[in-house]
This record gives sequence, structure tokens and C-alpha cells, in this order.
Amino acid sequence: MSTPTNGERAPLLGDNERGQSGAGPSKARGVIWSLLTLLFLVATVLLVFFGKVFGDPFAPWLGTLPSDPNLAALAILDKAPIIDGHIDLPILVRSAFRNNVTAIDLKTKMPGHVDIPRLRKGKVGGFFWSAYVSCPAFESKDFLSATWRVRDTLEQIDVSRLLIAKYPDTFTLALTSDEVKSAIAAGKIASLIGIEGGHQLGNSIAVLRQYFALGVRYVTLTHTCHNAFADSCGLLPGMIPYHGGLSSLGKALIAEMNRLGVLVDLSHTSDATARQALAYSKAPVIWSHSSARAVHDVPRNVPDDILQLIGTAEGQTDAVVMVNFAPFFVAVPGNATVLSVADHVDHIAEVAGKEYVGIGSDFDGIGDVPVGLEDVSKYPALIAELYRRGWTKYELAGLTGANLLRVMAGAEKVAQELQAAGTPPKFDIYEKRKDIPRRGSDVEL
Ligand SMILES: *[C@@H]1O[C@H](CO)[C@@H](O)[C@H](O)[C@H]1NC(C)=O
Ligand SMILES: *[C@@H]1O[C@H](CO)[C@@H](O)[C@H](O)[C@H]1NC(C)=O
Ligand SMILES: [Zn+2]
Repeated sequence: MSTPTNGERAPLLGDNERGQSGAGPSKARGVIWSLLTLLFLVATVLLVFFGKVFGDPFAPWLGTLPSDPNLAALAILDKAPIIDGHIDLPILVRSAFRNNVTAIDLKTKMPGHVDIPRLRKGKVGGFFWSAYVSCPAFESKDFLSATWRVRDTLEQIDVSRLLIAKYPDTFTLALTSDEVKSAIAAGKIASLIGIEGGHQLGNSIAVLRQYFALGVRYVTLTHTCHNAFADSCGLLPGMIPYHGGLSSLGKALIAEMNRLGVLVDLSHTSDATARQALAYSKAPVIWSHSSARAVHDVPRNVPDDILQLIGTAEGQTDAVVMVNFAPFFVAVPGNATVLSVADHVDHIAEVAGKEYVGIGSDFDGIGDVPVGLEDVSKYPALIAELYRRGWTKYELAGLTGANLLRVMAGAEKVAQELQAAGTPPKFDIYEKRKDIPRRGSDVEL
């Protein structure tokens, strides 16, 4: 930018001096001085107050972002830390420590991908602790085999809550989008809890309400097995549908999730389940840990025709697709890197929009990791790569957390409205259950 003090030597002024005589030069000089001053002021106002319009190429020049993408990523993450949609630390605690929270020291290096020093190095501001337990090994076709999955889920919620409470200087249990923001503002890692599959509900919507009371804020409709509520996509292609998407109980479950303010998570679901849930949910939804099928063709990734259903236009639903780092979902064997994960982010952004993508690493739930994204300390490498590809700091702040917070706030608003309207809880009972009389009149008094 030119500055008024250079005006004397500006070629434009020189031409004027040569081309005119008498009162001309000083008058012309005055006009040009004024124009240059005005230009300077307008440019300053634009850059300072409307810097967003110019994007980040101006940011290093303004001194607001370092020019090195790695340093820029750290600066961006300082303001807009990572909120990861899916971290499997609780199941590692179950399998490696028999859920003995006393035996765990998150301040030292943990086996797996997650501990406090690495969370801090990776600029993590929050994550969903996945209170996951696996699908039952044997399950009758109508999902009526008694299992211990509700007990096991309660144990994983217990482990999550005890670990969060064990490090009050680091973690804060967060139950709302506002609580996530205030935890981050206080320098804490906002800790949310999610359940990874309808099989963890024991076919019961009442169990959902009690999980909500314990702090659960998303339920993945399925894991790798079908359940009484919905069909799963399985792990490998060829999963044969059971309901053809959602069951009627599944719709009642979504209605109750909307009423409570529990996010509907569509990772792991079949495409039919995802489409029907998008249409049926009154609240915005999430994919807590899923990537793009057009980039790598596996059933666990989201296809373009479903990405196109995300948004705010007629027939679309607000959502955030939080990209999974599992190498098996990211690329052909041996090819998963921070670059291929960035390809998934870019693709979802291209099809759905940059406001609809987030990060759901699946750390501690994946055996293998992409090159360059080995654990929670490495998120800045992904942010640096996207910055290099032209993402602005505002777009990156959406990716790292703001998009998820928007969706959470949207679901909270729907819940408030449904409750204010007096919407009653859902009391639907799984139709195949025989332990409860079908009608009250069947009860012998
Ligand atoms: C839990 O871990 C602590 C610390 O390692 C140990 O002292 C205690 O015996 C463990 N409890 C059980 C039941 O294993
Ligand atoms: C895997 O990576 C190698 C080396 O970068 C590349 O040549 C190859 O095309 C990649 N394979 C696929 C299927 O993308
Ligand atoms: Zn999963």
C-alpha cells in the first residue's frame, strides 16, 4: 500500500508536474495527496474491520497470523481449539486397565493415542468420550437375547465421569454448547459423553432418558450390528438390511432424542437409516466419526448423495460430518496420511460446504493411524495442511469446533421448543418384547 509520505516521489505526481504549469502543480499535488490519504484510510478501515473479506493472504502482512502454515495452525488453534467428535479412551481403559481409574495416570504417556500432555500439545479444547461397548457376539434375529450391554455402558459412563473428575484442572464435564464454550474459555478440555450404538439401549427409550440424565449427549443409532431401532452399514460391503432403515421404534427414539436434546449420530448407520433419520429428525444431526465415500469407497463413509442432503435449504438438514482418521476408511492400505485425511475434509467441504465438516478422529479406537496423524498431539498438522490449501482461519475455526457447536446449539433449541410445547416423553415399547403386557387391560389384578 502507498502511504502519503511517498507522494512526492510518486510517478503520477511527477507526470502532473511536468505536464502542467502555474497554479496547476501545487493544486494537483493537493488533490492527489487528499486522494492518497483517503485511499489509505479506506484500505486501513477495510483491512482492520473487514479483514475477513480479504482472507488470510493479508493476515501475515497485518501481523495477525505467522506466514509459516505450521505456526499459523497453532495460532488458529489457540483461538479455536479442536473439539473431536469421537475418542475411544474409555474402551481402552476397560480393555487395558479393567476400568481401574486409580491405576490410570493421564499425566504420563498412556498406551494408545490419548493422554493429557498430548491433548495439550495438540491444542484440544474438547472431545466426546465414547462410552462404547461392542455389539453382542450372539444376538437373536429379533434382538431379544438378554445381554449385559446396558450394564457395560453404565460402566463406561462411570469410567468417563470418574476420569473427567480425576483431573479437574484439565477436564470439565460439558452438557451444553455454552458449557463447552465456557470450559474452553477457562482453559479446560470440555468433556462430553456419547454412546456408540442403539444396542447399548437394551431396546428401551427409558434407558435413553437415564443415559441423558447421566450426561450422554449423542447416541449413534447403530454400531456395526443392526438393532431394534435401525439398520447398520456393517463393516464390509454386503450387510443385508433388516428394517430397511429405521424401525417405528427407531422413529420414536429420534423423536425422544430431539425432545431431550441428545444428538442423533449417523456414523455406522446404513445409507437408508441415514436418509430416513435426516428427513425425520427435527434437530440438526452429526456424523461423529465418518469420512467421504467418494474419496475412499467403504460403507462407513458418507456418500455424496447423502452429503447433498446437508444444509439449510428446503429439503436439507443442518449437520456436521466429523472426519474419521482410521486408515481403513481413509485410503488403500499403506496410503493413509495427513494429506489423504485432508482430502476427505476438502471433499465434504466441496459437496456439503465448509460449515458442515468437523473432526472425529476415532483415536484409541483404531489400531493403526495415518502417517502424520499418529495421536492427539498431531491435529495441528492437519490444520496446517488445510491452511496451505487455502482454508481461512474462519473456515478452520468452523472445522475445529464451531460447526459442531452450531449443530449442538440447534439441537438444544429444538429440545427447548418441544419441551415448551408440552411434548410428552415417548413410551413406545419394543413390539417384540413379551416381558411387558401388550395392553394394560391384560394385567391380572
Ligand atoms: C486399582 O489400581 C490401584 C493402583 O494401581 C491398585 O492399588 C488397586 O489394587 C487396583 N484395584 C483393583 C481392584 O485392581
Ligand atoms: C498410494 O500411494 C502411492 C504412493 O504415493 C501412489 O503412487 C498410489 O497411486 C496410491 N494408490 C492409490 C490407490 O491411491
Ligand atoms: Zn465407531
